[in-house]
Amino acid sequence: MTKNGEYRFIKACRGEPVDATPVWFMRQAGRYMKEYRDLKEKYSFLEMCKTPELATEVTLQPLDVLGVDAAIIFADILLPLEPMGTGLEFSAGDGPVIPKPVRNAKDVEALRPVDAEAQLGYVGDAIRMVRGEIEGKLPLIGFCGAPFTLCSYMMEGGKSKDFTITKLMMSEEPETWKKLMDKVCLVLIDYLKMQARAGAQALQVFDSWVGCLSPGDYQQHILPYTKRVIDGVKDCGVPVINFSTGTSSMLGSISQAGGDVVGFDWRIFLDEAWDIIGNDTPIQGNLDPCILFAPIPTIREKVHDVLKRAGGRKGHIFNLGHGILQKTPVDHVKAVVDMVHEYQHEQ
Ligand code: CP3
Repeated sequence: MTKNGEYRFIKACRGEPVDATPVWFMRQAGRYMKEYRDLKEKYSFLEMCKTPELATEVTLQPLDVLGVDAAIIFADILLPLEPMGTGLEFSAGDGPVIPKPVRNAKDVEALRPVDAEAQLGYVGDAIRMVRGEIEGKLPLIGFCGAPFTLCSYMMEGGKSKDFTITKLMMSEEPETWKKLMDKVCLVLIDYLKMQARAGAQALQVFDSWVGCLSPGDYQQHILPYTKRVIDGVKDCGVPVINFSTGTSSMLGSISQAGGDVVGFDWRIFLDEAWDIIGNDTPIQGNLDPCILFAPIPTIREKVHDVLKRAGGRKGHIFNLGHGILQKTPVDHVKAVVDMVHEYQHEQ
């Protein structure tokens, strides 16, 4: 595969025919790989993100080992929070911590605009460096968090189970919520555009936690802003993947937010989801990440079920319904790639 447009993954994003189903994994770089854990002995997660040589090394780690069809830049959806002024820390065990969470109108007012080129330029540098390493072999995906998922961390101060603070601001302080969304959308669009300019050949918007909302709240308080972000990067000319989890009951609304590709989790049959999203929109998914801990014959059965439901239709990118889990056996991930590539659809 040489030209950008000829990559199997990019073709599938455009709904074009491919020689085999493309496959990549969210969190394909990370702690389940020994190479990553070794590097992590020496550097913190944020150091790795902010040092383009290290981010490049980690991005490349899984590519040859797994044989996937795309790379995703090693970075994090939370990186823009630092220049916005809330602080950002990663504590072992607890995950991300936001030291100055946004809780009221004054906090929203204090959030700073971000110049992605100047303040998050290390992500762009890593993208250019990775492109130099994989040019002609694999395309590179850039990404950001969707407004809801990003704001949930920003407001709750870290991971959350019930998202009470975020949900309450939405319903009780609509003006403040709107101001927050306006600011966040500007940052996200600028961040994605910077990544595309640096060479990202596709962009994924991660709405990992939006499934905690009722469909009505999604439509009223979130959809317009996720749509604004996705529409805002249309002129970058690269496919955008609109990914969420826990959204089986609102995939119709989710796809109204846009995206050249809609990604979803395992809580719905792939063919059912595709019917809701619309068969002319490419999709990404949807194996349960837990299945990767099962014996190979079970994995094969589940992988084949996903592929059978895709039925050889154009525009399917194989992925998990969410990121690879921490203790996943690497050889099982590799086995999934081979199963997907070798699968023959019935004529
Ligand atoms: O997919 C990839 O390989 C690219 C790298 C990537 C990371 N985070 C690296 C990472 C991507 C695409 C993300 C996205 C991300 N970050 C999301 C959306 C996807 C999802 O998983 O829902 C979210 C919600 C975050 C925020 C975040 N960053 C959390 C909740 C955590 C801690 C979770 C955990 O596994 O402990 C992180 C840290 C993080 N981001 C790690 C990695 C490899 C682990 C850091 C470590 O080594 O300790």
